[in-house]
Amino acid sequence: MFVESLKCIECGREYAPNAIVYTCEACGGLLDVTYDYSRLEASQLLEIWSRRPLSVWKYQELLPADSSRKVSLGEGGTGLHRCSRLASKLGVKELYVKNEGENPTGSFKDRGMTIGVTKAVELGAKATACASTGNTSASLAAYSAKAGLPCLVIVPSGKIARGKLVQAVAHGAKVLAIKGSFDDALREVRKLCEKRGLYLLNSVNPFRLEGQKTLAYEVCEQLGRRVPDRIVLPVGNAGNISAIWKGFKELRELGITRETPKMMGVQAEGAAPFAHMILQNLDKLTPLDKPETVASAIRIGAPVNWSKAKAAVVESKGGVTVVSDEEIVDAQRELARLEGLFVEPASAASIAGLVKMLEQGVISRDETIVCVATGHGLKDPDIVVRFYEEPFEVESSRVEEVVGRVLGCG
Ligand code: F0G
Repeated sequence: MFVESLKCIECGREYAPNAIVYTCEACGGLLDVTYDYSRLEASQLLEIWSRRPLSVWKYQELLPADSSRKVSLGEGGTGLHRCSRLASKLGVKELYVKNEGENPTGSFKDRGMTIGVTKAVELGAKATACASTGNTSASLAAYSAKAGLPCLVIVPSGKIARGKLVQAVAHGAKVLAIKGSFDDALREVRKLCEKRGLYLLNSVNPFRLEGQKTLAYEVCEQLGRRVPDRIVLPVGNAGNISAIWKGFKELRELGITRETPKMMGVQAEGAAPFAHMILQNLDKLTPLDKPETVASAIRIGAPVNWSKAKAAVVESKGGVTVVSDEEIVDAQRELARLEGLFVEPASAASIAGLVKMLEQGVISRDETIVCVATGHGLKDPDIVVRFYEEPFEVESSRVEEVVGRVLGCG
């Protein structure tokens, strides 16, 4: 392994890579995993990688956990789908969707959890824990089951999608539903982890984000060692945008690519503290008390990784936008019907955001664009029941007559 340390992004203080520390003990800043890149040679890496299948662990030289002890369910290696029908509708030259719903538990969280739970085992953790809007809990529950570790998840009561809750329960996690928001749940679980020695696997955990950065390596490889002009993705707790940006920066640092993409974050109107901070050019994030959106995965008022994510947007010369719930559901339907990709509302926010940024002229139509679809549509079946047309109910004796009328060919 080439890991050097855990380094505070604010004050630079360093910690041993095997320390159980989530934020800087001196200043409370977020931590980043550092590597000795000088010991890694691009041509050698490319040669080793060419012999391994597309997956998170393919890139083990740039990961902080011991691959010989990996806790894996076969994560990563998700499809990068060229979306020609949607592209032509939007008038865009080259559009792809990286479909993270193809991961083992149906979301990008698995990339992080394979590393995070491997690390938990390595560090001798007795149990894992997280707060969640749904996907993190589903993923952590599955990987903890695989590792034989008890798992505690705290979720905002009545506010997470049914499919995700069912996954956490099925994998045997202890689920506490608290009266409050995701932000309240995160505050409580962080306290609990400090006091009781549970291993925290929210995205404030720097090891988890290392797994998530592999999406950047995969996209580059799937485009034939090319970097897209833009990555468009939903922002909730703001970990993923930071992680993916790190992945692209590393490829450039190692001399594998010359360019980096512009990172474009999308938030929902009722839960957009990060977007507002960027749009108003503020130094600090002002948390939102009661975030609300149909995209329950990103219903977050106080994104913990905002400072890393701000750096990602600023350094990459990217941007942010805000979309309405209606735009999110429309985008979900478009992607499902034009491209055969059924993604959950938070994921569809990336498409809705693209539409908006094309209209605003922020993104031009001749760019190569990758939208990240972070989770599978089946996670949240209630959205379809609420917002889509009802199935057509009919007596069996009238099928032929009605079909003609419904299909317009009677
Ligand atoms: N998309 C989906 C489907 C998510 O589940 C999440 C976050 C995000 C986007 C936002 O990613 O937080 O890294 O900016 N879900 C977390 C959870 C908060 O608990 O499942 P982020």
